[in-house]
Amino acid sequence: MKIVLASSNKHKVQEINDIVKSLNLPLEFILPPEGFDPIENGETFEENSYIKAKEAWKLSKTWTLADDSGLCIDALGGKPGIHSARYAETPALRIERVLNELEGVQNRKAHFTCVMTLINPQGEVEYKYMGICEGSIIEETRGTNGFGYDPIFLVKGDTRTMAELSKEEKNRVSHRSIALRHILSYLQQLI
Ligand code: IMP
Repeated sequence: MKIVLASSNKHKVQEINDIVKSLNLPLEFILPPEGFDPIENGETFEENSYIKAKEAWKLSKTWTLADDSGLCIDALGGKPGIHSARYAETPALRIERVLNELEGVQNRKAHFTCVMTLINPQGEVEYKYMGICEGSIIEETRGTNGFGYDPIFLVKGDTRTMAELSKEEKNRVSHRSIALRHILSYLQQLI
């Protein structure tokens, strides 16, 4: 079964494909057709995930899966949240902005959120799931794996940041893998 993955973020596509591969399922995730350029103007992760999935469906008229994700920091009222990808110009500057905003702040609690939306060939939402990974923000960067805010995100119950985990370790605990596992177990009933 082929599923269009409504994303142009190659890190996310890679992570999703790695997880699927490790589970040995008869599913193939493919990139959206040319022209995929959703306007992410929703106000929540759910809305943006739906917008992306629907846009990919309009172009492909087949099964589509979209992921919308971001980092939510308690002391910043949930920011950067849905603005995670555009909080500053580069990944390094985005991290710098977060660290500056948290300077002197005691409460460092944060979580990553990922909402996945699965749309069927008829264009209806077939299933959606919100995966959450709890943790906290440290005061400096540590580790070189992963992407985005991984070097400042300390995984709850671990002494390492997300960027210090191996690919396999991140894929066991991440918000994206939690959401994807639920989507995949739903899909398994259909194939
Ligand atoms: P999206 O592509 O609109 O869903 O934006 C997601 C953004 O949230 C990314 O560009 C990253 O900045 C951040 N993000 C989402 N998932 C992760 C993750 O697993 N690690 C680090 N940053 C993430």
